[in-house]
Amino acid sequence: MHNRIVLIGFMGTGKTIIGRQLARQLGWSFADTDWEVERSSGLTIPAIFHQYGEHYFRECERNVLAQLLPQSHQVLATGGGIVTDLESYRMLQESKESGVTIIWLTARPEVIYQRVACTPTRPLLQVPDPLAEIIRLMQARHQLYAALADYVVDTSEQSVNTVVQSIDRFWKSGEW
Ligand code: S3P
Repeated sequence: MHNRIVLIGFMGTGKTIIGRQLARQLGWSFADTDWEVERSSGLTIPAIFHQYGEHYFRECERNVLAQLLPQSHQVLATGGGIVTDLESYRMLQESKESGVTIIWLTARPEVIYQRVACTPTRPLLQVPDPLAEIIRLMQARHQLYAALADYVVDTSEQSVNTVVQSIDRFWKSGEW
């Protein structure tokens, strides 16, 4: 029954890289809502934001989540803002009753800033003061992540491998 793991958390906390390695270790498949939004729309995320706006992006993300969430033996990495969409949030909340374990990856704002500062792929951080925006968005989303999470891992100082082993141990402990 418990054979799906969803990774939530802010941009730059390592959801994709950690999710991919975790899936490999468990012998499960890996999916990523950002990749699937790009694949199904044929557009990059910056292009979707630029041409159609955030609201439309959240709609695409919601449709992709509805398709991917039921897949068993899968690790699913989600976009950092998925929890801000009420319908996506509800889907995640309800999925916990049908066997989804939700892992929240966190990191300190300065670490996130260093990881994402040089990449033009995060439209929400293309602002004059990205660090202030990271702090603002993190505060606004904190409660949403916290309310969904079965387990939290801070990735600021830990290697990908250490984080993966920590999630693996938690999942195998059956304490979700
Ligand atoms: C977003 C996070 C991004 C991507 C989009 C919006 C957000 O995903 O979905 O740029 O609102 O935090 P990552 O968390 O994978 O960077």
